[in-house]
Amino acid sequence: MKRKIWNVLIAFIVCLTMTLVGCQSAAHSGSTRQQTQAPAPTENKILVVYFSYSGNTERVAEEITSQSGGKGVELVPAIPYTAADVNYNDSNSRSQVERKNDARPELSEQTYRQIELSDYDTVIIGYPIWNGYEPMLIRTFLEHYNGLSGKTVYTFSTAASSGGSAAHNSVSGRVTGEVGSNLHFTSSTLSGMSTRVHDWLADLHLLAE
Ligand SMILES: Cc1cc2nc3c(=O)[nH]c(=O)nc-3n(C[C@H](O)[C@H](O)[C@H](O)COP(=O)(O)O)c2cc1C
Repeated sequence: MKRKIWNVLIAFIVCLTMTLVGCQSAAHSGSTRQQTQAPAPTENKILVVYFSYSGNTERVAEEITSQSGGKGVELVPAIPYTAADVNYNDSNSRSQVERKNDARPELSEQTYRQIELSDYDTVIIGYPIWNGYEPMLIRTFLEHYNGLSGKTVYTFSTAASSGGSAAHNSVSGRVTGEVGSNLHFTSSTLSGMSTRVHDWLADLHLLAE
């Protein structure tokens, strides 16, 4: 009889010990869960600036802004371009004269007010190809901001059919910060734009989380 009581007592002590150990480990794993939280999403400090006369570059800019989580700012000329201004068949049109004269057309005050450069690490600049190169307005922008010194700079461009490398090289030569790649579209490649923007940003580690 005594032996039976001992056996019951031992079984009870074993059960109690196991229960306590179980509780402790559950409490421990609970606190571990609290400590190993998912890392905070990387904050992309990206500024997407672009000039667009007829909307193609703007479409790309909007896609880049949306996929990167950056801030988009349109570079608006102080004096907007008219259809006559951008007639490249007329050597006396504003766009052609500006190029010949290496002009620096002014940006609107509103454009400058929207740009607080110190808020960003990365600047992505977009433009249409005009006569093989970036429009002069882009040069105005780069010079105003001291060649984007200290920033990492990427470019994107659109054209009817020309390539983007002459313009990219020209922009690169005017940037004092670090310059990366160019994403270029012609009218025949614009349809696959969203996927190419995605792949480009993924390569650069600039996709929003
Ligand atoms: C003044 C001017 C010059 C242009 N020069 C070229 C050029 O050299 N090569 C080219 O393929 N397209 C050229 N284009 C066409 C534009 O690059 C193309 O339509 C671009 O996608 C327009 O972009 P946007 O809609 O953002 O203004 C020119 C357009 C204009 C208005």
